[in-house]
Amino acid sequence: MARDSPCLDSPGRGEHARGVLMTFLQSHLSLSLGAMLMLWVLGVRALSADPQSRKDLSTALGFLLAFLVLHQADSEAGPLLLPQARQMLRVAWMLTLCFGAIRAVLSFSVILLTLRSRTPIPKILRDVLDVSLSVLAVLVILKTQLEIDLTSLLATSALVSVVLGLAMQDTLGNLFAGLSLQLERPYQVGDWVTIKEVTGRVVQIAWRATRIETPRGESITLPNNVCSKEAVKNYSRGGQPVAVDLYVHAPYERAPNEVKAVVLEALEHVPLLLREPAPTCRVWGYEEAGIRYQVRYSVEEFGQAEWVTEEVYTRLWYGFRREGIDLTHPKARQPFASAPAPELPEEVIAEMLRQVDLFQVLKEEERARLRREMVPKRFAKGEHVIEQGDEADTFYLVGRGELSVRTRAGVEVSRLTRGDYFGEMSLLTGEPRTATVVALTDVVLLELERPVFARLFDAHPELAPKLSGMLAQRRTQLQAAMAASGESLEVTEEHHILGLLKNIFRLN
Ligand code: CMP
Repeated sequence: MARDSPCLDSPGRGEHARGVLMTFLQSHLSLSLGAMLMLWVLGVRALSADPQSRKDLSTALGFLLAFLVLHQADSEAGPLLLPQARQMLRVAWMLTLCFGAIRAVLSFSVILLTLRSRTPIPKILRDVLDVSLSVLAVLVILKTQLEIDLTSLLATSALVSVVLGLAMQDTLGNLFAGLSLQLERPYQVGDWVTIKEVTGRVVQIAWRATRIETPRGESITLPNNVCSKEAVKNYSRGGQPVAVDLYVHAPYERAPNEVKAVVLEALEHVPLLLREPAPTCRVWGYEEAGIRYQVRYSVEEFGQAEWVTEEVYTRLWYGFRREGIDLTHPKARQPFASAPAPELPEEVIAEMLRQVDLFQVLKEEERARLRREMVPKRFAKGEHVIEQGDEADTFYLVGRGELSVRTRAGVEVSRLTRGDYFGEMSLLTGEPRTATVVALTDVVLLELERPVFARLFDAHPELAPKLSGMLAQRRTQLQAAMAASGESLEVTEEHHILGLLKNIFRLN
């Protein structure tokens, strides 16, 4: 007997609790509680920044407002109504109070938990709790006020249970799949995933389905039981970099190490491409189309991969073209094809040389020779033509486009356009590059090597002081810009520069 007593006690305690709840609901205390709850919800809503919580709190406010109106109507006009109508009015305000209070308390708990754990609480959990508590409230209120017992109705009617069970089979399957996804967490809201050939960012995990937004802006809804059955590729692993692979072919005539160097150079300074882990280029097979290379690089977030890949393909074209590496499939190559069209027509280069101040001292045949010695090179917008601190001695004349001369800290010192030249400092002094030169648009540059200048200085000694004068003037400007950004560049007098120049070119 003693063992049975708790079971006998339970319904009695339940009845008692329900009785207390009903007495409270029917008293004026519930009216004051509703009004206080409303004020509290208004305050929390004003302070909350989470859009979902604000939305939930607005719904709670709506319910609480409806409650106040209905309760007031019951107090004022209730005695004048038919007993059934008054009963319905009472059920209505009880339900609105319960729905409002449940929403408000849940939203507040979600805000507190999010603040503590710093991870968003899954919407599906909020929804399940909300629906469960609301159903409970409906069952209790219907039973106590209208004596309608839905639980026993459902339990006793086998037909209703079967029909409901069949109708809700899919929905319940999705709900449980959604709950298991929440517990297992193969992905969270905000992650980049591929599920069943759909790639995108998870924007919502609801009780029935997971919503994914693709990079094209499509919104795709995948039922939760599909997501829990399919293999899920998650690219967002706690802020770790995401590696991207692409493959290119280069001709068999070009040595793999030479091609790898060109590829890695092309990847330098691609925006959003991470330096760490460092990009790699590996030979990936010998195929009909040429030697296959795998290029691997990393980005911070999968959403950037598409943009970066496009930029990498673009820069590879420029890098390969500058080095004369043919990207055409061997079958598509014409047996007696002429060389690719020059980057700049000869007559344009000739006209430019005539106009450039530096070369005006040259005779026509000297200029013609210079034109033949110039190597046109094309650079893509954004590429770094010269990197501050590098050891090199090439000189460039701008044939087309615009470039920016910058300090290491990114302060712009000057812009260069058609007819301007740069790279003269390292060429003339043998020192490392003093600044970084970045292509602001696609540019065509005409490249000259040091031996050409040795010959020019021999033939025209007046060129050396002219060039060193320009160099000293630019250096002063560069020093000022560097000093402003906290960098330093050794002050070099013009006569010292001329000394270096004479030493390098063995001039008198
Ligand atoms: P160099 O040092 O070889 O490489 C960087 C180049 O930037 C440098 O040669 C100059 O040609 C160029 N440069 C430096 N300072 C200026 C400036 N103030 N105006 C224009 N070009 C500059």
